[in-house]
Amino acid sequence: MRQAWTRCKNRKKGTVVSFYFKCINCGSKYSIQEIIYTCKKCNDLLEVEPDIRELAKKIEDGYWKRRSISVWKYKEFLPVFDESKTVTLKEGGTNLYKCDNLAKKFKLKNFYVKNEGENPTGSFKDRGMTVGVTKALELNMKTVACASTGNTSASLAAYAAKAGLRCIVLIPSGKIALGKLAQAIIYGAEIMAVEGNFDAALELIVEASECFGLYLLNSINPFRIEGQKTAAFEVCDQLGWRPPDRVILPVGNAGNISAYWKGFKELQRFGIIENLPKMTGIQASGASPITEAIVAGSESIKPVKETETIATAIRIGNPVSWKKALRAIRESKGTAEAMTDSEIISAQKLLARREGIFVEPASAASIAGLRKLIEKGEIDRDETVVCVATGHGLKDPEIAIKARKRVVKVKLNLEAIRKAAKLRCSRVHT
Ligand code: F0G
Repeated sequence: MRQAWTRCKNRKKGTVVSFYFKCINCGSKYSIQEIIYTCKKCNDLLEVEPDIRELAKKIEDGYWKRRSISVWKYKEFLPVFDESKTVTLKEGGTNLYKCDNLAKKFKLKNFYVKNEGENPTGSFKDRGMTVGVTKALELNMKTVACASTGNTSASLAAYAAKAGLRCIVLIPSGKIALGKLAQAIIYGAEIMAVEGNFDAALELIVEASECFGLYLLNSINPFRIEGQKTAAFEVCDQLGWRPPDRVILPVGNAGNISAYWKGFKELQRFGIIENLPKMTGIQASGASPITEAIVAGSESIKPVKETETIATAIRIGNPVSWKKALRAIRESKGTAEAMTDSEIISAQKLLARREGIFVEPASAASIAGLRKLIEKGEIDRDETVVCVATGHGLKDPEIAIKARKRVVKVKLNLEAIRKAAKLRCSRVHT
């Protein structure tokens, strides 16, 4: 009988590694060479499954562990078959900062921030795009597309430029941060601002991709998740292959939390780590359907129609990967929280002023969430906690400037500076 999945040759090593798509609901399997994003039988989400035995053989010698840290360090775990087509801007390998100043403030034993703003276009999306756009080339696609609250469009535009592909992006009109828009423009994407929110834009681009043969690179595309799972590999790698007790990250369309969870579970499945961290998702209170479902103990989410938050990156009311996210949080015995705009802004300032890390508002939601969960007594102070800072602060300069005290105008002389900053003269007169 013909197998439902293809066996593909990894040309460099001459060995065979198999991957296939599997429906997260009914378990149907599909060839990884098919251009599909959801199950043909039940329309649920797909994920990439490796052939366990093939992958175990490939990683057995531990050779991969000796490469330098980046997305492609873990290439055996990634369903890419033609290495010559790899589209890379040197993504991943972001620092995991030990944040002792904040650990002290929160009375936590071990606290780290994974700074994904250090990626080439300033957000974690680059991990997904290096794999996704490489697959677009492997599949011979000519045009890539996405809907975006900003970072996905910036990242896709850059990788499409590198790959020489046409790039079409839909953004919610007036609701995208300036830095992200500037990036999508300069990388040469064709940008369409739609009247409607992100959820509506996503629905439209899914349909457009089908109608016009565009290659869709939102996180509904399982290859995006494959790239993003490498962040979980890196966190374990950077902690000496000891996973943290808890990972806290902002949740919008819910792809990233699903990707981390998939990454941790794969490492456990191959005996590389023993324990799994508690996945903790943080949303903005104006767009928090997943948090509401977790709090209510419900099996599904109630989409939020009118979303509003200063953290525009996660202004999403109907997250596509909600089912994967609920599973990740529940299976890991994690939790979810919703934060107000002022809590988010205050956490953004705290991280910048205590640790020198400037993140965009959505990313600061993870720090705000940590603070709240500690106050509520839901986080044990002995836990090793990693907060994921998903995007760079310069993505959204307007918010940072508004959140700050006024800039003081002074005359161009010493006396004016002395007065404005209340300084005392320390010059020694002889
Ligand atoms: N943080 C940032 C900075 C983001 O840009 C996003 C998502 C998230 C967190 C949430 O990740 O959607 O995987 O749960 N931004 C998408 C975009 C939606 O279009 O740029 P998620």
